[in-house]
Amino acid sequence: MTNNVVLITGAARGIGLATAHLMMDRGWHVAMLDRDGEELLKVTSGLEKAAPFICDVSIPKEVATALPQVLSRFGRLDAVVNNAGVAEFGPIDQTDFAMWRRVMETNLDGVFLVSQEAMPALKATKGAIVNIASISGLRASTLRVAYGTSKAAVIQMTKQQAAELGESGIRANCVCPGPVKTKLALAVHSQEIIDAYHDAIPLNRYGQEVEIAEVIAFLCSDQAAYVTGQVIAADGGFESTGVGLPALRDK
Ligand SMILES: NC(=O)c1ccc[n+]([C@@H]2O[C@H](COP(=O)([O-])OP(=O)(O)OC[C@H]3O[C@@H](n4cnc5c(N)ncnc54)[C@H](O)[C@@H]3O)[C@@H](O)[C@H]2O)c1
Repeated sequence: MTNNVVLITGAARGIGLATAHLMMDRGWHVAMLDRDGEELLKVTSGLEKAAPFICDVSIPKEVATALPQVLSRFGRLDAVVNNAGVAEFGPIDQTDFAMWRRVMETNLDGVFLVSQEAMPALKATKGAIVNIASISGLRASTLRVAYGTSKAAVIQMTKQQAAELGESGIRANCVCPGPVKTKLALAVHSQEIIDAYHDAIPLNRYGQEVEIAEVIAFLCSDQAAYVTGQVIAADGGFESTGVGLPALRDK
């Protein structure tokens, strides 16, 4: 058990919410940050080890206001999970600049801004950053020119952070989830896409929020004290598969 403090962005639902609960169960105090204030207040009500922070990670002023609030509430910060993300899919020629920016400003700018604001507090604790990218940042696919590019950039940013912040004792790692049936995924995954994922994933199924949360919690913890600059796909084997033809499986 620990009395450490983690800040999780995008904590009002999905993978962020599951991570908040898992880490609370392990003794962490959790600063739960989200721009969906209504949902955030609902899911944090009655929680003893958590507090809500309403903030849009893509807006520098809001991030600059939220981080001191987290520190004044909890007094320290041992880990940051940059999980807030949006998904919008579309063909390249129909991805207009507004859509490109909507995806980049949360998925990429948000990770940059929150990490930077958290840096002095993380230096003080020799803390950890865990960025949530995606298998879409590791493997290219159709309709994801904005989403996939934003997530590939998060993978590279993680390595930059590890390289530069290691001498301050800060670790930075990246988790790339495979498909998980959250609101984000269900908005962009048709039944056809779901079936195709089942065929292409060696474990033959979508992941669950808590299965991603376990990897995030490990990377935040002292058990991962000598792990930095790594990219871990929690994806049922999707990334490792080259020719994963369903017809070649021994059924
Ligand atoms: N679900 C999947 O299949 C999947 C796969 C790969 C990667 N991911 C990544 O995992 C992360 C979590 O996704 P999820 O599936 O739990 O999504 P979700 O939509 O269920 O939850 C995302 C949360 O982030 C919040 N959020 C979005 N933009 C924000 C902003 N600018 N500022 C503050 N909060 C913001 C939303 O309000 C929401 O509560 C995302 O980064 C996503 O890209 C998800």
